[in-house]
Amino acid sequence: MGIIIDGKKISSEIKEQLKNRTAELAAAGKRPPCLTVIIVGDDGASKVYVANNEKTCKNAGFKSVTHRLPEQTTERELLEFIDRLDNDPETDGILIQLPLPKHINEENVLLRIDPSKDVDGFHPYNTGLLAQGRPILPPCTPSGVIELLKRQGIEIEGKHCVVIGRSNIVGKPAALLLMQENGTVTVCHSRTKNLADICRSADILVAAVGKPEFVKADMVKDGAVVIDVGVHRLNDGKLCGDVDFEGCKDKASYITPVPGGVGSMTVAMLLKNCMTAYESKN
Ligand code: GUN
Repeated sequence: MGIIIDGKKISSEIKEQLKNRTAELAAAGKRPPCLTVIIVGDDGASKVYVANNEKTCKNAGFKSVTHRLPEQTTERELLEFIDRLDNDPETDGILIQLPLPKHINEENVLLRIDPSKDVDGFHPYNTGLLAQGRPILPPCTPSGVIELLKRQGIEIEGKHCVVIGRSNIVGKPAALLLMQENGTVTVCHSRTKNLADICRSADILVAAVGKPEFVKADMVKDGAVVIDVGVHRLNDGKLCGDVDFEGCKDKASYITPVPGGVGSMTVAMLLKNCMTAYESKN
């Protein structure tokens, strides 16, 4: 049986370190970092994310501001709202909760965020820096993957890292960050031939396909590290990932569970980015 990587524990350590830092700031008479979230309309899942962000911010000594805008907010109104936050010296991080209502163009909105406040790391400027090997505000979920590996003491350098999935939010940035850590990276996707063969050659397998329990035991090399970025709710209400955990756990040397693996890391990395944004200007 492989070692189960405890994302909850590792994310708690990061949040604890950030809390210590905000306590130092307070002791020095400085204001805390401020994360501002904008949510438009009332998507159910988004409300849960936002409540979780607020709670985590407060526990770590960050200031949390949430603007709840009505569903019928126009794109122009939202852009003007972002302009005000871009120009507010006491707003360090801006997060626009996705998805946005259908009448609002997501790309236009994300482009409007000042890249130095883009704590999600979704702005093309930050994507460009990441592609050039100078990540400053990397996307939170993939940087959470790297942090899990490092804090678990798993070496990336020289390893064959296979990423399944090429999304802008997870697959692509995960591949770039693994390359930055001197991994040898292969990116697979829905059109990849011999996908199972390639996966079987991975020392570190990162599943970000978006399909429940897609990765089966016969796709995992003995002793591989298996990182599961997926999260799906099954009909019986239980959560599962992109990896068949029960099938793969005995082959892997290390494996992340769902829940309690990568998912726990995202909000910790969001606060880390917010601290980076704060410190780079203060
Ligand atoms: N909605 C679900 N996850 C995320 C996220 O990581 N960032 C943003 N902005 N919206 C989300």
